[in-house]
Order: sequence, then structure tokens, then C-alpha cells
Amino acid sequence: MAADERGRAPVTASTVHLPVMPNEALSALQPHDGGCYLDGTLGGAGHTSLLLDASAPDGRVLAIDADPLALERARVLLPEAIAAGRLVLVHGNFARMGELASAANFAPVDGILLDLGLSSDQLADRERGFSFSHDAPLDMRFDTTRGASAADLVNTLPEAEMADLLWRYGEERRSRAIARRIGEARERQPITRTSELARLVAGVVHGRPGGIHPATRTFQALRIAVNDELASLEAALPAAVDLLRPGGRLAVISFHSLEDRIVKRFFQQEERGCVCPPELPECVCGRAPQLRIVTRHPLTASETETAANPRARSAKLRVAEKIETQIEAGN
Ligand SMILES: C[S@@+](CC[C@H](N)C(=O)[O-])C[C@H]1O[C@@H](n2cnc3c(N)ncnc32)[C@H](O)[C@@H]1O
Repeated sequence: MAADERGRAPVTASTVHLPVMPNEALSALQPHDGGCYLDGTLGGAGHTSLLLDASAPDGRVLAIDADPLALERARVLLPEAIAAGRLVLVHGNFARMGELASAANFAPVDGILLDLGLSSDQLADRERGFSFSHDAPLDMRFDTTRGASAADLVNTLPEAEMADLLWRYGEERRSRAIARRIGEARERQPITRTSELARLVAGVVHGRPGGIHPATRTFQALRIAVNDELASLEAALPAAVDLLRPGGRLAVISFHSLEDRIVKRFFQQEERGCVCPPELPECVCGRAPQLRIVTRHPLTASETETAANPRARSAKLRVAEKIETQIEAGN
């Protein structure tokens, strides 16, 4: 296979990513013929393909990804759906789904899916720097066209901020010691490769035999920071509610507690509506509930699925439905 000018193999339709909780995601979104859906995290196009199939022959899907390679792959994988006008691919951050959907003539929509984090294709791509198992440039950006890389953060963040980042996004107990070790190492020369960082961390964090790699939490924290993942999710949730038509559903699959907590609290808040302090005798904010929670407790993957796809082990699916806003009599 011929390489392009960057030395990369051309994108093919092959993806190693398996869509997580496919049946549960479909039951949540209830796609139907002629419906209009938004997949905010195209990835390997697994859920997008399922949505297209389940909404055939006339349903439409707008699929967004920050990663240009995911879009290139989907163009090769799903040319018929694109040619038929049933699939529209957009490069961008799902935090901006409102404007991206309006620009593509996709508002309002009947269902929205967010399947957070990174795809197995990104993890397996040795050039992207997401994995501590292969030596690669320390990059970790979903969107390779913009923004600071993991190497930029590792080489420029003050030590205290680095420690804070590792603690907040990785729940890494040795955050200060790791940040100190990074500070010492980068004084000698910039840290540019995943293997260097993994080695530095392993010198400070002593994993248990058979346990996770000592650099797991550091790599997770850096990836979350590089891609501003939690802020994107916080911006995306209200945008999703605005974009849904009444009765439409929002399904979010998260992979760690930081994400799941944001989704859970947002759903609870939007089901409650009112944001007045509890000590007020009556509501003065006038905010009406916007969502009905469909999954009181998050759904998790079956044993059969986790045996076939270990990545599904930590997945949590939460679903909510947009309700008709109550218009008070006399208004
Ligand atoms: C877990 S994968 C999605 C897999 C997909 N559901 C499938 O079945 O193949 C997550 C994808 O979302 C993308 N992504 C993550 N955060 C994003 C954001 N804020 N905006 C747009 N895309 C994002 C990543 O680049 C990655 O391709």
C-alpha cells in the first residue's frame, strides 16, 4: 500500500473499533424510518452505521468527529449513505453541535448519541501517542489540525499545575512526585516521546504485579486535558437539549467517573428545572424541567459483550428524553 506525503498509509475502510453497547444504544434512541439523528462521536462509524440501518430507508444521520481521520475512514466505509444524502460528515467539536447541525440543515433532531473518549483506532494508531505501549510522538490530540499536544503541556506547564492536572483528571495519588520528576527531566531536554514519559512515570509509580501499567492514569489525565474533554461535555449537554425535538432522546456513553458524574448531575438538574436555593419558600427562577430521565441507574455492558470487547467493561450509558416545555395557562 503506497504511503502519502506524511509517510502514512492511506486511510482504508478498516476499523478495529467495536461499538459499545450497540443494542442498548439503539433501544435508547429508538431510531425510525425518516428520523433525524446526530452522532457526536463518529469514531469507527459503528453506531452511525447502526443508526443508518435502523432508520432506513429515509432516516438521516449527522456524524461529527474532531478527528479528521475518523471522517476520512467513514467516507471510504459508507459512500452509499453519503451519496444518498442520508449521512452527512462534519469535522468539529461536539460542543458546537448546535451551530454544526443548523449549518447542515439538521435541526431539530430525534436523537443524539455521545460515545465519549477515544476510539480503538486512535489507540492503535502508533503515530498518535495515546498509548504507553508503543513509542510515538507525545501528541494525544483528537483534532490533529489544532491545539496544544501532550508534549506541549508536559514541557511547559508549571509543576504545580501539572500535579493538579494528574490528580484531577487521573486521580493519580503520586501526582506531585510525577510532576517533580517531569520537571527535572525536562530541564535536561524536552520530553517528546511516549516511551520517555512512560519510563519517567514508572520510575515514580510502582505498579502491582498483574495490575495496570504505572503510566495509565498519567496518560488518561493528559489525554483529557489535551482534548479539554470535560469542558466539551459540559458545553455539549445543554446544546444537545436545545437541538432535540420534544420526545427526542439523548444517550451518553461514558468511560470514567468524571464524565459520568457530569452527565448524571446535568440530567438531574434538567429534570428538576428549578435552580432556586432550597431555603426559598417558592421558585423565583422560573426554570421549567426539560428532561425526563429514562435510565435511573446507568446501563452497563453485558458479560458477553465485555468478554468480546474488554473496552466495554467501564462503559455507562445514561439516557434522557426531552419533554414538552409546560406553558403556563394565561401566557
Ligand atoms: C469512543 S469513539 C466513538 C466510537 C463510535 N461510537 C463507533 O461506534 O465507532 C469516540 C470518538 O469521538 C471523538 N471525540 C471525542 N471527543 C470529541 C469532541 N469533543 N468532539 C468531537 N469528537 C470527539 C474521538 O475523536 C473519537 O473518534
